[in-house]
Amino acid sequence: MAEQEEVLRAEGLRKSYNVGQPNEVEVLHGIDMRLDRADFAALVGPSGSGKSTLLNLIGLLDSPSGGELYLRGQPTREMDDEARTALRGRHIGFVFQFHHLIGAFSALENVLMPWMVANGRPTPEITDVARGLLADVGLEKLSDRRPDQLSGGQQQRVAIARALVTRPSLLLADEPTGNLDTKTAAEIFELLRRFNEQFGCAVLVVTHDPRLSETCDRTITLVDGEIVSDESHPRSRQSR
Ligand SMILES: Nc1ncnc2c1ncn2[C@@H]1O[C@H](COP(=O)(O)OP(=O)(O)O)[C@@H](O)[C@H]1O
Ligand SMILES: [Mg+2]
Repeated sequence: MAEQEEVLRAEGLRKSYNVGQPNEVEVLHGIDMRLDRADFAALVGPSGSGKSTLLNLIGLLDSPSGGELYLRGQPTREMDDEARTALRGRHIGFVFQFHHLIGAFSALENVLMPWMVANGRPTPEITDVARGLLADVGLEKLSDRRPDQLSGGQQQRVAIARALVTRPSLLLADEPTGNLDTKTAAEIFELLRRFNEQFGCAVLVVTHDPRLSETCDRTITLVDGEIVSDESHPRSRQSR
């Protein structure tokens, strides 16, 4: 069944910082988790519990100190940087708290960036895909604007469209609504949900807001570098 298709699996994932130095510290102590294609999951936990560290490992932006991470069944720990970068570019989309859009580029050019990094000059086909994504996030009329001509919520919508332009199988979002008002934050979560259903793209989103994590189908709680609970609550899907 497609819904059960495994996108990501972590086995005994560990992460230490400052390895070999007096201030060496292990911040993830053996994470086991699995994300399937249909998952729309929240990652919650106190500040400093290791959420961003875990997201960076899962997103192949950083390497674990121990354990293994499988992306679509492929072990990634032994890969060299080039292979990891290629795998990340193909399968993972990222949204951060601060959008990291490029100021000199239009919304459309920003959305095209991840594709251009992997493939070079944009084709008419991918430009259509990017315009379609901007329309999906409600910004079709603003595609020529630069980030500083957009509101915070609009910038984050561009960042979501950008994360999806390569049609990733996994979308990772680290406090994407951290600096947005409540209503805009809820709209961003609705968008993530819509793409999860529309593209069959697994979503893992870090949030501090229980009202937002409740809209997800699953809540994974991290405390002091360990998963202390992993609860499914798919009722939110039916009650919408
Ligand atoms: N680059 C780093 N070097 C050293 N310690 C770090 C680094 N990044 C994060 N940490 C520490 O790791 C722990 C987890 O941090 P983080 O993953 O950012 O947590 P969260 O996102 O849940 O707030 C914290 O104690 C933090 O201080
Ligand atoms: Mg964090």
